[in-house]
Amino acid sequence: MKFECQRLSDPIGVEIFGLNLTKPIDEKIIQDIRRLWLDNNILLFRNIDWTPEQQISFTKNFGKLHIMPQLSSVLPPNLTTHPEIFIVSNIKKNGKPIGFKAAGWGWHSDGEDKHIPNMGSMLYAVDVPNKGGDTGFANTYKSCEALPQEIKKNIVGKRARFSRITMHSINYPSLPPLTRKEKLERPDVWHPIIRTHPETNRECLFIGRWAVEIEGMPADEGRDVIKELTAFTTKDDFIYIHKWKIGDVILWDNRCTQHCAVPYDGEEGMRYLLRTTLEGDLPYYKNKGEKQVCSYLA
Ligand code: SIN
Repeated sequence: MKFECQRLSDPIGVEIFGLNLTKPIDEKIIQDIRRLWLDNNILLFRNIDWTPEQQISFTKNFGKLHIMPQLSSVLPPNLTTHPEIFIVSNIKKNGKPIGFKAAGWGWHSDGEDKHIPNMGSMLYAVDVPNKGGDTGFANTYKSCEALPQEIKKNIVGKRARFSRITMHSINYPSLPPLTRKEKLERPDVWHPIIRTHPETNRECLFIGRWAVEIEGMPADEGRDVIKELTAFTTKDDFIYIHKWKIGDVILWDNRCTQHCAVPYDGEEGMRYLLRTTLEGDLPYYKNKGEKQVCSYLA
């Protein structure tokens, strides 16, 4: 089995053609796909028509699957038949949402607010609106490389605090406040703002919508720097906006990207995307002989 590929955009991504993803794939091909993924941050496959089992089985080629905890009692859990699949959707049945519409609103990487963030994620577009509901992807290798020296020297080797507890009602205003139990389950975490990718050893900017404070900086200054870094990493030079078509599948590397669903409203049509998510490892920063800076729970 052979495949072809072509660049998706200048800043990020490759599109892969000619593979049948509904069948088991040869180990050598998987290694080639993984190399492309590591080099290009996101991969796009088109015209996919697969079952949840097939999506799960293809995702497992890249690592261990993560099961998303239920985000709120007002949202349905994952696909009931396949808990490995998280539903992103604006569809309601009998007045109740069948998935979380606003899961991806605001630039972030999946699990950035957890001690062990997720390595990668894969979205499969089952149904998409005629207009809106696009997803942006930012290449955080490139933004890190291009970061002006005076900004970089201020953050290198420092960590940011990521807080579900502080940001939940800001990032997810449509959901009820976190309960005491939910708060205990999602303690704050400190991650290195510049992160060394564990497979490529390259540096990436690791910041997002759950970051609230920077180590060793007064609160206001930290918030301003987080804003500045987010604006920088999501500049046109580093992003690609994907207009979904039915059957598109995108696999992204959460360690060296950020993504953001462009907010849309329900009148534009139905949006139904199924996401599988990969377990990750503890973020760290280490540059040529320097002391390693690791994430830790607050
Ligand atoms: C997500 O963040 O996983 C969902 C992205 C989207 O809705 O486009």
